[in-house]
Amino acid sequence: MSDNVFSSCRAFVFDAYGTLFDVGSAVDRFKGSIGDESDKLSSLWRQKQLEYTWLRSLMGDFTDFWSVTGDALDYAMAAIGKKDPALRAKLMETYLSLDTFPEVVETLKSLKAQGHKLAILSNGAKHMLISAAKSSGILTLFDQIICVDDLKTYKPHPDVYQLAVDQLELSPAEISFQSSNGWDIAGAGHFGFRTAWINRSHLPMERLSHTADVVLQGLDELLPLVALPEKA
Ligand code: LAC
Repeated sequence: MSDNVFSSCRAFVFDAYGTLFDVGSAVDRFKGSIGDESDKLSSLWRQKQLEYTWLRSLMGDFTDFWSVTGDALDYAMAAIGKKDPALRAKLMETYLSLDTFPEVVETLKSLKAQGHKLAILSNGAKHMLISAAKSSGILTLFDQIICVDDLKTYKPHPDVYQLAVDQLELSPAEISFQSSNGWDIAGAGHFGFRTAWINRSHLPMERLSHTADVVLQGLDELLPLVALPEKA
């Protein structure tokens, strides 16, 4: 591995939604029946999904990510005046087989081929993560699928990142965490992970106490940073 911030890393841990899986692909599949407000629906759905995880964690009122995702969709559909139970059911079903971003599958395969340990660390409910990973053909590439179901709180609470330390049996500095969500990167960096922010949307850095160790435009840019030295 080239000598850099990832040199100490013995596992590569990935956020799921927005990093591996394109959450926008759910609404994209039904743009025709949703019409002009599909972009508003998609962005409000994601915004409320995240807001509800933060609010429920702060309130101590946990419900799993499938329920939160459904509640957020209900809010977003109400906001655009769409009352369509059949469409709601199809959108929720699509969340179980979201598209991956274009570079994800080959990058994960390359990391695995290089001998790296890979895991998902996500707010997603276990059944959601397994379904989406299986449908995109990446499930078998992961050594662990780590979710918050039993912890009953959400990112960026430090206990979520501690799950990866406990289940991978590594120190925080031995874990490289990849996420497209700047707030998730701040939480992971604050906890002690090495962090790669996958800033596909060219967003400004969050004004929080930790900034990413590296900022990449896609997961594939990780490969030259983490290539292990050729075995002699
Ligand atoms: C996750 C959300 C935060 O996968 O993207 O945890």
